[in-house]
Amino acid sequence: METRRVYLDHNATTPLHPEVKREMIEAMEMFGNPSSMHVFGREARANVEHARKIVAGFIGAHEDEIVFVGSGSEANNTVLSLFACASNLCLPGFKARTSIITTKIEHPCVLETSECLAHKGTKVKFLDVDQYGRIDMDQLKEYLTDDVGLVSVMTANNEIGTIQDVAEITKMAHDNGSLMHTDAVQAIGKMRMDVNDLGIDFLTMSAHKIYGPKGVGALYVRKGTPYCPFIRGGHQEKGRRAGTENTLGIIGLAKAIEMRDAEMDDEAKRLAGMRDALKSGIEESIDNVVFNGHPALSLPNTVNVSFPGAEGESILLYLDLQGIAVSTGSACASGSLDPSHVLLATGSSPERAHGSIRISMGRETTMDDIGYMLGVLPGIIERIRSMSTAYIRGEEHVAAK
Ligand SMILES: Cc1ncc(COP(=O)(O)O)c(C=O)c1O
Repeated sequence: METRRVYLDHNATTPLHPEVKREMIEAMEMFGNPSSMHVFGREARANVEHARKIVAGFIGAHEDEIVFVGSGSEANNTVLSLFACASNLCLPGFKARTSIITTKIEHPCVLETSECLAHKGTKVKFLDVDQYGRIDMDQLKEYLTDDVGLVSVMTANNEIGTIQDVAEITKMAHDNGSLMHTDAVQAIGKMRMDVNDLGIDFLTMSAHKIYGPKGVGALYVRKGTPYCPFIRGGHQEKGRRAGTENTLGIIGLAKAIEMRDAEMDDEAKRLAGMRDALKSGIEESIDNVVFNGHPALSLPNTVNVSFPGAEGESILLYLDLQGIAVSTGSACASGSLDPSHVLLATGSSPERAHGSIRISMGRETTMDDIGYMLGVLPGIIERIRSMSTAYIRGEEHVAAK
């Protein structure tokens, strides 16, 4: 009998929405370069510009404010790298603003870029978070000095789902004369976002987290905001990102956004119901569990939970044997045995961080899937915990010899 497969790792990536797949297959014959003046090029250009309108409309932006890029990571690198040269020569008006504020719980593409910039002389300050993963607003106030050019705070965290008050942070950044960026890769399509309500200058999104294709994303850049291309050498995207456009990916991204617009509100309610059922099911059937993330200000699809005494990797592998896919830490960090930097930042001990898994549901997750998960998880935790006791007993036995 084939093992049932249940995908609960939507924060790592999502399957293509059937409508996105259909649209992309239809568009596959269209090969023209959007920069070519002939009919083949003009056809591709029309599709790219149509997609730009859809992406812009979804977040309340003007189409000229959308730059298509190769990934969420590229968009984040682009924004942070605006501050790469210590003298900020490319940013008129920002010459004296050579430092950046970000947080300790950002995705590695922000953290590592920030660390790299710090090595090159940019001053970077990393904000602490509380036990739920919310940033310390008093510390932000203290860090906002005259030399801060950019504040970059993610809207929702990929590991624990905690949502930040981006509008308030933006207001504080702007009051200080600093620009504001938010990495909205996990938030877009799970909660409504409007760039004008938030007031932000830059916003990052990625298609593969919202049932679109991999390797394409978009960066929102508010009109008039200082900007410098990260990838140079072409006039594409009005000189803001060189490289022939990924036409097919862009079409897929726009279709994914159209589908999010149609489905996300009802889906968010359904996901929140399943999340609550999953959390209470875990609490009722397994003792000594700790839920990570904010109890209320959190993505409706994400449950991050620690099982002291059980290694996250072991839980993942046992669940995998039952056909259930979850993750430990962020997808990009897997392969490393370091405990999650996000959980550590919330004050979790390395042991507790090691014993945690992330369960992230999506549009095709059903209550039946949650029931299946709740049917196998308690036994797995029990088995791993008892083996870990056996291991300690074994050690004692060896030591006694
Ligand atoms: C919060 C966040 N930012 C950025 C990224 C990177 O996006 P991409 O995979 O498109 O490079 C991810 C992907 O895991 C993410 O979760």
